[in-house]
Amino acid sequence: MNELSGLRAVPLYTHVDRITRGLAARGIGSNDAIPPDELFALDQWHYHGTDAIRDAAGFLGLGSGSRVLDIGAGIGGPARFLAHATGCHVTALELQPELHRVGVDLTRRSGLADRVTHVCGNALSQSLSTAAFDAVISFLAILHIPDRPALMKRVQTVLRPGGQCYIEDLARRAPFAPHDREDLLTVVQGVALTSIEDYAADLRQAGLVDVVATDTTNDWALFAAQRLADWRRDRVSYAAVHGEEAWEAQERFYSVIDRLYRSGSLGGVRLTARA
Ligand SMILES: C[S@@+](CC[C@H](N)C(=O)[O-])C[C@H]1O[C@@H](n2cnc3c(N)ncnc32)[C@H](O)[C@@H]1O
Repeated sequence: MNELSGLRAVPLYTHVDRITRGLAARGIGSNDAIPPDELFALDQWHYHGTDAIRDAAGFLGLGSGSRVLDIGAGIGGPARFLAHATGCHVTALELQPELHRVGVDLTRRSGLADRVTHVCGNALSQSLSTAAFDAVISFLAILHIPDRPALMKRVQTVLRPGGQCYIEDLARRAPFAPHDREDLLTVVQGVALTSIEDYAADLRQAGLVDVVATDTTNDWALFAAQRLADWRRDRVSYAAVHGEEAWEAQERFYSVIDRLYRSGSLGGVRLTARA
């Protein structure tokens, strides 16, 4: 299984027509304009939705002149929220063509195409200009990227001197039991999890400074448990709109993540640093 087919199989990334269906359930047809606020419940694939992105914007001091790179943009939720809330310009870099295409469509229909540029490519190899960005963000994506030291060097290079990065990602707190490790690799495609200390060391090694790492495990474990409980409670209403299979796919993802936190092996981390 290559990198792309492994990612495509992650249950969070299947049944992406759930966005169109979710919008339709709100009375928004597949070619209609979308008020950005209608999207934010559907397009944020990390912890704490737009609250987390608002925190990042505040930390990074983003405004209408800021140029931001989003690594692993998914369908563009964080990028659109930042552009909408601060007026900044975001380059939303996403590896999977299917997700990239959905992102382009949602951005156009929500009237943000002048502030969000979608790029389909691999963060390890996509051509990016040196010192082109005031900020780099990445939410729950670097876990998928095998060569994190190389990626962090790229982050350092694309940031202007003094520019900052803001990363949220999964981490490893303790070795995974064999069954958990199997699910981490196949269901989550978590190929690059390390301790928080080793993560921070990669940033320093890349030449980034003022590295601050915050352990988010306890908060995210509670979020994951609540997310799973809510998902199971809403089974009938969700399946009525999206089908049983779509419900089951996300249940699988959410239940594996919940179990990995409960095992004590999975953790979460927020890292900030400056070029
Ligand atoms: C959990 S999603 C998060 C999406 C978005 N950051 C959000 O919070 O809504 C992680 C994304 O990273 C993308 N990704 C994985 N490896 C990548 C790579 N090498 N380059 C660019 N994107 C990548 C995946 O395809 C996936 O869409």
